[in-house]
Amino acid sequence: MSDLPIHVQKNRDTWTKTSADWVAPGRRAWESPAITWGIWDVPESEVHALGDLEQWRGKDSIELGCGTGYVSSWLHRLGMRPLGVDITRAQLDTARAFQQEFGIEFPLIEASAENVPLPDASFDLAISEYGASIWCDPFAWIPEAARLLRPGGTLVFLRNSTLSVLCVPDVGTATSEMVRDYFGLHRVEYDAESVEFHLPTGPMIRLLRQCGFEIEELIDIQPPADAKPNRFDYISLEWSKRWPSEEIWRARKKG
Ligand SMILES: C[S@@+](CC[C@H](N)C(=O)[O-])C[C@H]1O[C@@H](n2cnc3c(N)ncnc32)[C@H](O)[C@@H]1O
Repeated sequence: MSDLPIHVQKNRDTWTKTSADWVAPGRRAWESPAITWGIWDVPESEVHALGDLEQWRGKDSIELGCGTGYVSSWLHRLGMRPLGVDITRAQLDTARAFQQEFGIEFPLIEASAENVPLPDASFDLAISEYGASIWCDPFAWIPEAARLLRPGGTLVFLRNSTLSVLCVPDVGTATSEMVRDYFGLHRVEYDAESVEFHLPTGPMIRLLRQCGFEIEELIDIQPPADAKPNRFDYISLEWSKRWPSEEIWRARKKG
């Protein structure tokens, strides 16, 4: 019997089954010389989610739900000391293979981002791009990120925008109609196989503040002018040009 919450077990099983599908996209991201964000590959040089990149040289980062590890590989190239955490062994195996292939090594830990076996105040940056930010319960992973960060440390995460979650049906593509309630939004189950989490804007602000964070930015993502339709069929390029399909939060742990 596992002590892990049911949603963590379900998500781990799903990611174990689908991990092979993420090898090719993972390799493309590892190959990318530039940091980009989300499903539209928005360049960091446009959104400035990480602020002044020089500030990160020599600092410690933890990626919560690191998957194939490309975000941490970019942080390594910035001069950081990254560490990746993921619950799915198959995903970490891919990350490890890429470390060998690209000659970039950093520690990888198999654990849930809701309960990380590392000491308090060990990192300057906690980051998640579609990792803990959507697969973990925010009431568990946000306090955990706060615990792991040093005073003055930064939390940056990308997730689906609240607006998009309201407009994406259980099956099919987002339309201009809202198909779920804003009030009470938290656990979102598009199918029986996995569990996502989405706390709307007001409750997310409250939670971050309760965990000792000051919010610095909430960046609404719009695809670049030259963005192409992609493999994600739950949301179209046309929709995403009109409304934000993704958002990046940056918050600082009070010193
Ligand atoms: C979209 S992927 C990771 C994103 C990463 N940027 C990438 O694309 O490789 C989501 C990852 O979250 C991980 N994950 C899901 N639930 C988790 C949990 N409770 N703790 C840590 N990782 C988790 C999955 O195993 C998966 O590798």
